[in-house]
Amino acid sequence: MVSGDPARPRVIVNCAVSVDGRLAYAQGRRAHLSGPEDLKRVHALRAESDAILVGIGTVLLDDPSLRVKPELLGATHGGAPLRVVVDSRGRTPAGARVLDAFAPTLVATAGACDREFPSHVEVLRSGVNEVDLGRLLAHLATRGVRSVMVEGGARVIASFVRGGLVDRLYVYVAPVLIGGTTAPSLMLGPECPGPESAVGLTVESAERLGAGTLLRYRPSPHAVAAHAAQ
Ligand SMILES: NC(=O)c1ccc[n+]([C@@H]2O[C@H](COP(=O)([O-])OP(=O)(O)OC[C@H]3O[C@@H](n4cnc5c(N)ncnc54)[C@H](OP(=O)(O)O)[C@@H]3O)[C@@H](O)[C@H]2O)c1
Repeated sequence: MVSGDPARPRVIVNCAVSVDGRLAYAQGRRAHLSGPEDLKRVHALRAESDAILVGIGTVLLDDPSLRVKPELLGATHGGAPLRVVVDSRGRTPAGARVLDAFAPTLVATAGACDREFPSHVEVLRSGVNEVDLGRLLAHLATRGVRSVMVEGGARVIASFVRGGLVDRLYVYVAPVLIGGTTAPSLMLGPECPGPESAVGLTVESAERLGAGTLLRYRPSPHAVAAHAAQ
């Protein structure tokens, strides 16, 4: 186990946003915000992770394969990371790429979900109205998963961040503005009425990557209080 908490794997949230912090276009339409340099970094991060996780919203809108593309890495890599879908009600379409048999997949549903999945798909049922992410991480730990890369989307990122389950946040900022009222931002979910609910971060690094900027943060409970005091 390599996170600060021995009961769960290390969790890295990785995403690409516009300068105004949007993950996608209006109504959540997929935006290809990573340039070639960032795509290579993302696939290297996937390759070194034991599991890659997304929410059902991302599966429905983007239909990602969540596989490592060796052609982007220029090197061979080990086994395919476990693909994890957080899907309370079992809405993952039967034809979704994440359910193909090219890599192992675990679908995490709420406890009451009785949807059946193909035999090559592992199912973990936990939580009442939504998936219990703490229990999911604990289960992954017992299965030998030491690192999880959370790729999105906005609600799943918010739940991980607000649940105190994130060790690092990597944000690639593409040099573009999206705007509008329905393009999702990096976090959706519970409102943030004031600084007491904001999530403080500490910058670990900031670097130019291709045409954009790669920012690496770690959660920092003191950062908000420091800003609020100014
Ligand atoms: N730019 C990037 O790097 C990037 C990466 C990934 C995705 N995206 C974008 O993100 C958008 C999708 O984001 P999204 O917020 O709509 O969907 P999401 O975060 O992928 O999935 C959210 C859904 O997961 C389910 N869920 C189950 N347990 C949950 C829990 N404990 N916490 C949170 N969610 C839980 C809920 O649906 P149920 O109640 O039905 O279970 C919830 O609505 C798309 O536009 C996609 O293109 C962008």
